[in-house]
Amino acid sequence: MANASEFGKVAVLLGGKSAEREVSLDSGRAVLEALLRSGVNAEAFDPQERSVTELVNYDRAFIVLHGRGGEDGQIQGALEWLNVPYTGTGVQGSAIGMDKVKTKQVWQGSELPTAPYRIVTNDSDLNAVVDSIGLPFIIKPVHEGSSIGMSKVERIEDFAIAIEKATEHDAVVMAEKWISGREFTIVILNGQALPVIRLEPPKDVAFYDYETKYNRDDVQYGIPCGLSEDEEKRLQNLSLRAFQAVGASGWGRIDAMQDEHGNFWLLEVNTVPGMTSHSLVPKAAQAVGYSFDELCVAILEQTLTGTAH
Ligand SMILES: Nc1ncnc2c1ncn2[C@@H]1O[C@H](COP(=O)(O)OP(=O)(O)O)[C@@H](O)[C@H]1O
Ligand SMILES: [Mg+2]
Repeated sequence: MANASEFGKVAVLLGGKSAEREVSLDSGRAVLEALLRSGVNAEAFDPQERSVTELVNYDRAFIVLHGRGGEDGQIQGALEWLNVPYTGTGVQGSAIGMDKVKTKQVWQGSELPTAPYRIVTNDSDLNAVVDSIGLPFIIKPVHEGSSIGMSKVERIEDFAIAIEKATEHDAVVMAEKWISGREFTIVILNGQALPVIRLEPPKDVAFYDYETKYNRDDVQYGIPCGLSEDEEKRLQNLSLRAFQAVGASGWGRIDAMQDEHGNFWLLEVNTVPGMTSHSLVPKAAQAVGYSFDELCVAILEQTLTGTAH
């Protein structure tokens, strides 16, 4: 491990202006505390409250901003201009990763499996959508996270409300084929896929929605994930390729599902995933021996060696 003084003055970027601001404040505070406990000279920096040009006074930045503005290449671009090294994925990978459609297009181009989808609007020909991806499907804002604005559509009559809900959050909305089966998340750290985690939302919810993610304590996390050794390896390899294909680096998370035939389907990439002490990244890291504090320092170390992006 690097000596804490090698890092110099570190800005922990948290908060920001996105719909995931509150989640980012939680994650950012947890990272800040971990770095302080490890002897790092770290400070909180909320770009919603201060000019990003002040970042020039720091030696490096740990980005814990989720969603638009912080996870989409904007802050990464500002840091590039200011010549301040930062954790995680660079400008291009962040921009692609924040856009669920662009991500899927890159995966399709790399022959990586991702569920069929259509971009939809109020005026879409619903029959054509159903003909192409079938029912049920899930409606998603293309540039959101944390399951914001998503709904499952089981009957054609549910479509209009689902579109309206998603459109409140984003100008671009997609319908994606519903995958019935088990859900997994795969943490990538320093070029390796960590042990896969199975997510099991409670039986009374259709999917892993915002409420379930942040306000319920009855989600089951399977680690080990219950896949055979071969299947887990296959999913890890797939996830690593998916992560690299979009140009992501350093650390992050791939969300995926397995259908009833055993096929894996990639859902999305998170280039700045949640980092509270009960988030998924620390759970996977713990399975390979990292404490939360060690994990935070290991991510920050990526800014020393130039492997971050
Ligand atoms: N195609 C799908 N079929 C079934 N469930 C899905 C599908 N896509 C997403 N979900 C559910 O919705 C949740 C959120 O979707 P995801 O694409 O991971 O977006 P985000 O986490 O950025 O909001 C997933 O964790 C999963 O529970
Ligand atoms: Mg997700």
